[in-house]
Amino acid sequence: MFLFRIRRHRHPLVAGIVPALLLTACAHVAEPPAASPGVAAGERGFAGGVVSVSHPLAARAGADTLAGGGNAVDAAATIQFVLNVVEPQSSGIGGGGFMMIHLADERRTLIVDSRETAPAAASADMFAGMDFRQASTSGVSVGVPGTLLGIELALERWGSMTLAETLKPAIELARDGFAINRHLAARTADPRAALYPATAARFRGDDGTPLPPGHWLKQPELARTLALVAVGGSAVFYRGEIADAIVAAQRQSLIGDDGRGRMTQADLAGYRPRVRKPVEGHYRGFTIQSMPPPSSGGLTLLMMLRLLERYPIGGDDAGWGFGGRHTLHVMAEAMRLGFADRAAWMGDDDQVPVPVAGLLSDCFLAPRGALIDLGKRMATPDAADPWPCHEHGAMSGDEASLAAQDEAKGTDTTHFTVVDRWGNVVSFTSTIESAWGSGIMVPGYGFLLNNELTDFNLTPRADTASGDPGSNDVAAGKRPRSSMAPTMVFRDGRLVLAYGSPGGSTIINSVLNTTLNLIDHRMDLATAIAAPRFSVTSARGTIRCEAGLPDDAITHLVRLGHEFGQDVDPPRCDADIGSVQAIAIDPESGRQHGGADSRRQGTVIGLP
Ligand code: GLY
Repeated sequence: MFLFRIRRHRHPLVAGIVPALLLTACAHVAEPPAASPGVAAGERGFAGGVVSVSHPLAARAGADTLAGGGNAVDAAATIQFVLNVVEPQSSGIGGGGFMMIHLADERRTLIVDSRETAPAAASADMFAGMDFRQASTSGVSVGVPGTLLGIELALERWGSMTLAETLKPAIELARDGFAINRHLAARTADPRAALYPATAARFRGDDGTPLPPGHWLKQPELARTLALVAVGGSAVFYRGEIADAIVAAQRQSLIGDDGRGRMTQADLAGYRPRVRKPVEGHYRGFTIQSMPPPSSGGLTLLMMLRLLERYPIGGDDAGWGFGGRHTLHVMAEAMRLGFADRAAWMGDDDQVPVPVAGLLSDCFLAPRGALIDLGKRMATPDAADPWPCHEHGAMSGDEASLAAQDEAKGTDTTHFTVVDRWGNVVSFTSTIESAWGSGIMVPGYGFLLNNELTDFNLTPRADTASGDPGSNDVAAGKRPRSSMAPTMVFRDGRLVLAYGSPGGSTIINSVLNTTLNLIDHRMDLATAIAAPRFSVTSARGTIRCEAGLPDDAITHLVRLGHEFGQDVDPPRCDADIGSVQAIAIDPESGRQHGGADSRRQGTVIGLP
């Protein structure tokens, strides 16, 4: 196996956490194949539950919830609310997400979709004349938030604690404060932290300078808002004073009247989370469940895995194995094909039919896979037509403008995974889209509003001449296409792995890299997460890669015609892609394991 450069711990252990039960993200190269996917040989694991989260304070709160008798859904609610406080730039009640829940007793997986929606007054051309930056920093990009209602629904149906109980740690941290980590400190230097006065007042110093690591951050307005919700439930957010404040806040714009948000009190009162079934596919004997539309994450992942399955990705032959030149080439080509079809066909299928079965069929994927040539980079692929394979009919299309939009986007968002003592698992990705979302904080209420509507096509694509359905064009009440991909892996019907990542459209590729590392390269969780990632998020195919991939493989890719968007030769692998938090369960022993990502402050806490 190729030995990649090992990432070092970048953060001290948080005080107060019992070291024996805490495994911060670390990396070591896998020894012999693990007995169970993701489990290092000799690693004992836990039986009382495991949390894997991108911030130690949120991990601590989740572990305390499990230790107090809560289940995975209770812990997930607690973690998400604390993340709103300690990673306010990444997710929160002003945003949305996908909570994937596996119920161990029922052996059933479901998704609480709390994706934001476009307001009733939204229209396909509402971003006309705006570039991404303009659109994404004004109220026009704010979708109707879903996180709070999604969590409330999950707690009511599958939790054992009240909303108020799960809010308590977040309220205390917001009120009493905490020392910000270097990730949040760095983000306060982002101009988006200071575009609007309420945001700058909280996340910049008195003189307007960024906050240093270790700064003690108190958020009294957020504490008050969460306390209001603890007493009144989601109703106080979706109706009444907080709803009025959200509507007023999203009327702010940096670009005049066109940039003002169109959300009304009726949009907030009418928001509904949806409970969905995962999309499912198979890879080398494992069953993979992931996000259905309105996310493109699961479908694109399953398509790419199917395209890659015929190659000896984990093999010892020259050019294969981790970081091998053939491995990286076929990964790039599968990503380019997957993203070409994603651009044309994926969106909110409550509004526009998505040919899920067609896209995942061998009828569709076999000719797509035949385009991959080990000896050269394929020409930029158009989307192909999955409808004949789905028993319908339709088109093809050019994705250039969409690719440019995807590449301009932020890569914030957050992912965490929890398993409880009963074996229930939650894999939850949530977001306010860009770091700091739209940049708009709701004055007096202390939470940031998302800019999720920029996940729609900024320029409409629907075209009857070409047959492009405009799957991801803006429409009233529609959910913007996501890339979020909380994922679960099963063997013989038992859940063995669960993970996900933030990172905009790179989410899908971080999950793909992790899947290949765990299944093909037989790495344990820590190694699979630490391994350098490789990503292409458009059919045109500009590669981004992390340090540690072998130079000779990168040089080979250049020779085949791959593009890195750099003037240097050989191109540098210096990207920072994703932040994967994962759990594994040994199906024989039931022992539970966790792995977290040192690209952020990933923290695992297990309970004996
Ligand atoms: N906000 C990231 C996504 O939905 O893909």
